[in-house]
Amino acid sequence: MTMTTPKQGRAAARFPWWEWWVDRKRRFVRDETLQLDDAVFRTLAVGTGLPAIQQRSNFAFDTVKDGADRFLGMSVNGERPYARIYTRLGNPTTEYLERVLFQLEAYHVIDKALAVDERQPTIGSLCFASGMGAISALFMSVLKQGDAVVLGSVYGCTDSLARNLSRFGVEARFVDVTDAAAVEAAVAAPDVAMLFVESPENPTLHLCDLQAASAACEQHGVLFAVDNTFCSPWLQQPFRLGADVIVHSVTKFINGHSSSVAGALLGPFPMLRDDVFGWYKDLGATPSPFDSWLNGMLVQSLAVRQDGQSASAQRIAVHLFSHSKVAAVHYPGLPSHPQHALAQRQMRNGGSLIAFELTGGMAAGVKVMNYFARKDTPMELAVSLGGAISYVQHPASMTHSGVPEADRNARGISAGLVRLSVGLEGTEVLLEHLDRALAKT
Ligand SMILES: Cc1ncc(COP(=O)(O)O)c(C=O)c1O
Repeated sequence: MTMTTPKQGRAAARFPWWEWWVDRKRRFVRDETLQLDDAVFRTLAVGTGLPAIQQRSNFAFDTVKDGADRFLGMSVNGERPYARIYTRLGNPTTEYLERVLFQLEAYHVIDKALAVDERQPTIGSLCFASGMGAISALFMSVLKQGDAVVLGSVYGCTDSLARNLSRFGVEARFVDVTDAAAVEAAVAAPDVAMLFVESPENPTLHLCDLQAASAACEQHGVLFAVDNTFCSPWLQQPFRLGADVIVHSVTKFINGHSSSVAGALLGPFPMLRDDVFGWYKDLGATPSPFDSWLNGMLVQSLAVRQDGQSASAQRIAVHLFSHSKVAAVHYPGLPSHPQHALAQRQMRNGGSLIAFELTGGMAAGVKVMNYFARKDTPMELAVSLGGAISYVQHPASMTHSGVPEADRNARGISAGLVRLSVGLEGTEVLLEHLDRALAKT
């Protein structure tokens, strides 16, 4: 993709590292190959061993100089700066997970940077106590009074966080990310500092053309952040598509077993060092070493789990699509999805989230969800997603209840929309019970 000369937008004017980063993005970060190589994933995530759990709040220094050096952010014995002072600033067990996630999202950058003898890391990675911890640290680090942040249709708490920044003089503006021209027009406004999107969006499964959005942001000097929770690095690689920042709710696919709440933020190394780290340590949403160890273990099976979940979801989406009781199915892996071609380009497969509406509307949806709330059926009536257990939930009254109703309706989060996160119970079991549930409507 050819890029024109960047303008001096808010982010470009604010961050001393912007030009450095735009150059690195062009040379190392964007990539023609859009997916992580399968063998590389298995080597990186599975083959590197787990560290011991350093379940402690602080670390003894060897000498006064050692302590002072560590407080200066010096890296000792190749560890990440601040990894061995006080766990709110960093912890070796968390550092391991940060490195794994960095490699999964940005492995392709390493060889290209080393080939030209680049010494400074291009991309940094920090883990958080939750996805919202990562997102709030990002917002605090980047946005200032008088700025606007443009968002797609995002997770309910991201939405309310952005709206609540109005008390600090930051305006949240929302855009339909399926409309590339509208995205470009939104980021062209001179007060915009950041574009923040999910793709696919939660829960409508609308996609953002990440390459087009990235080109618009770069053109206007605006930071481009992608919440990659719905895909994980296995299904989608936003850096290769031109993202500046990636956030994850590690709680979802990376953990994959609903056993911990955690988050991650990856972005230009100088941004993490100079802009984010201060907020990271002062806001204090740092993960416990045990949670980091757990997630470092569970990420090992990410690819196998997600491939299985996606294959099941694909079959379930096809089945729902032809079911007489189902009025609409939203799933990027279906040819009927309006952005199916885009999904095929930027995602490894259609993923394991499906949203659907029933011919019987909300009342029928309630019957289906209550069927799965029973203890003798698979699935749970629960929020969250990406786990081995399938979850069914009602976005309008649950995950997205914080989004004003008019905005929910405009974004397609109708009262009758049901969201399904397909787990690992097995396709046949899930299809059988979906049919039984639908028969009740
Ligand atoms: C797309 C997305 N981003 C962020 C979050 C927030 O993550 P956490 O619950 O780990 O704080 C969620 C949670 O559901 C989510 O679905």
